[in-house]
Order: sequence, then structure tokens, then C-alpha cells
Amino acid sequence: PPVPFAISVPTGMTAPGDIWRRLGNRLRARGPASPTGYADPLGALALREAIADYVRKSRSVRCEADQVIVTSGTQQGLFLASQVLLGPRDQAWVENPAYRGVTAILESLPYRDAMVRVPVDAEGLDVEAGIRMAPKARVAFVTPSHQYPLGMPLSMARRAALLAWARSAHGWVVEDDYDSELRYEGSPFPALQGLAPDRVVYLGTFSKILFPSLRLGYVVVPPSLVDAFCGARVLMDRHPPTADQHVLAAFMTEGHLERHVRKVRNVYAEQRLSLIETLEALLPRELAWIEPGDQGMHLVLWLAARLDDHEIVRLAANEGIAVRAASPMFAAGTARPGLILGFGGFISAQMKAAAERLAA
Ligand SMILES: Cc1ncc(COP(=O)(O)O)c(C=O)c1O
Repeated sequence: PPVPFAISVPTGMTAPGDIWRRLGNRLRARGPASPTGYADPLGALALREAIADYVRKSRSVRCEADQVIVTSGTQQGLFLASQVLLGPRDQAWVENPAYRGVTAILESLPYRDAMVRVPVDAEGLDVEAGIRMAPKARVAFVTPSHQYPLGMPLSMARRAALLAWARSAHGWVVEDDYDSELRYEGSPFPALQGLAPDRVVYLGTFSKILFPSLRLGYVVVPPSLVDAFCGARVLMDRHPPTADQHVLAAFMTEGHLERHVRKVRNVYAEQRLSLIETLEALLPRELAWIEPGDQGMHLVLWLAARLDDHEIVRLAANEGIAVRAASPMFAAGTARPGLILGFGGFISAQMKAAAERLAA
């Protein structure tokens, strides 16, 4: 539900507002977003061009529009990547901890042991551990800009090591760049894709920066993989609904997305500091402490080992507070209890009240 501390809730200051609605009305009535027949399975060209331009400028991704495939969010991009890149019995590295959206896909594959959980430390994915555990893995699923959920970026040395492994093992790196626009101290880290456009499948989403129900994201693939991804896309759902793609393309080319990103970055930076201050004032450190970081739209609140994060999620829900448990993001036997707290578009008073109830 849209209550603190749900993640990616576009309310108030972080909602795209009137311009989005006006563009939608205009383009649906008589523009390219009006009803048409089947369209390009890669997505609307106008949107693919706008995305290519955006990721080249803002993320140092190296690509052309014909390498961009519009997806219904990162979730579909992750699923497509698993379908296209993994054959029977192939293994994939997945960070430990990781996003449930990726671990659940690999758990659903029809053969066992597809997923090799590789530890993460202060520099991000431990590439040497991955090589020891599964040197011949086909794919590494990573969150290099902002490890999910812990938040550290993958260091330069690890980036080089990961790409060296991918080249020598003929493996692929799937880069989930989910909220990289939101870094508060300094500029965002460039994408890994820019260092190896021939080995990296790059995933982006508008769920974080615009709103999740839009269901639009993108995959940027090396030219050699475009046909395979396009084919898998056709089998899955032909193509994303056309109308919103054109609304988004206009929103981007007319400069509204850049302005929106600047605005929400400021809102999130303030919300983040205010939530940290509030939680630190309310919670005894031996019970709960915040993982340091400087980006994103969520915080990780670690809990003392004797606390059960599932139970706290349940108790919080009874009080009208939405928090996510961290322990299911870890491989079996390595879990730590914690809570993921989003600081979306909620006003400070709402967050303060929720933090007080959570602390109690
Ligand atoms: C790590 C990570 N990747 C991607 C996403 C976004 O997924 P989607 O684009 O399918 O909404 C999220 C959303 O919570 C996420 O946490």
C-alpha cells in the first residue's frame, strides 16, 4: 500500500504531475499514441532513440537506438536475459544478498543449481570468489552502481576483474542499473556497460524515476544479441503497449525527464537525511542501525541478530506501515535480519509518525 516506507511510491512532490497528463491527452487524441495495428517488437523508435540518447549522456552507456529494446520494466528484462543467455545446466552468478526479482527467476528454472550465490563485500561482488565457485558460469547478474540492497558501488578494480572474467569465460554480464540517477554526494557512477559494450546486457527502468505502474524499462544489448532478445520478446508479449511509449518519448525529448530527475533527486536527498536523523534519534543502536550509503530511494535498517524481520514486517503492517524484510534476499544459511525502508514521496510528518510507530 502507498504508506511509509513503501518503495517507489510517486506521491506529491515525486509524481510526474500535469505535464505528463497533458502530453498523454494530446498524443492519445491525435498523435502517435492513438490506436494503431501491431508495432515494432523492439519498441517505438522514438522512445528507443530517446532512451539511447539519455543513457549515453547520463550513464556513459555506449549504444545506438537499434540496440535498445523497450521492456515492461526491469523484471521483464531480467526474465528475457535468463531465457536468452542461459541454456540447460548453465550456471549464473548472483550477488548475495540480491533482489528477489532475480533470485526467484533463477529458482524457477527447471534444473537445480543454476544459481551460484557470490558474496558481496565493501567493494561489491567478490569476483575471485565467483571464479572459485563457478568459473564457467554463463552469466553474472550484478547491480554495479548501487548494490541491491546494500548500496555500495562496485569498485573499479572489481569492474575490471569482472569484465576480464566475462571475456575469458565467454560469459555475459547483466547490469541492473535500477536507481543510478539518485546519488546525493557527487555525480552518479558511470555504467559498467560503457567499459565493455560487447559483453554487458544493460537494464534500466522508469519505475524508480517516474512511477512503477508505467511498466516501462529497457534492455541495451550488444548488436550480436539483438535478434535473440527480439525473438524472445515476440514470444512473450509481442511488444509493449504503444501509447505510453510515445508519451514517454515526448516527455524525454521535450526535456521534462531531466527536470523531473533533478527535482526528485533533491526531494529524495532531503527525505533520506530526515529519515536517518529520525530513526537514529528513536532507535537504540544495539537493536537497529542504518547501513551507510549516499544513493537510492531506500535505506537498509539492520536488526539485532535475535530479532525476526518477518515478524517485524507483520507487526508493522498491522500498524499501517510497509517495510520489506532483508533476510529473504540472502542465500540459505547466510541471512541477516533487516528492514528495507523506502523514503518515497511521503511528507516528513507522515514519515516521522511512521518511524515513531515502527520504533515503538
Ligand atoms: C534491484 C531492482 N531492480 C529493478 C527494480 C525495478 O523493477 P521494475 O522495472 O520491473 O519495476 C527494482 C524495484 O524495486 C529493484 O529493486
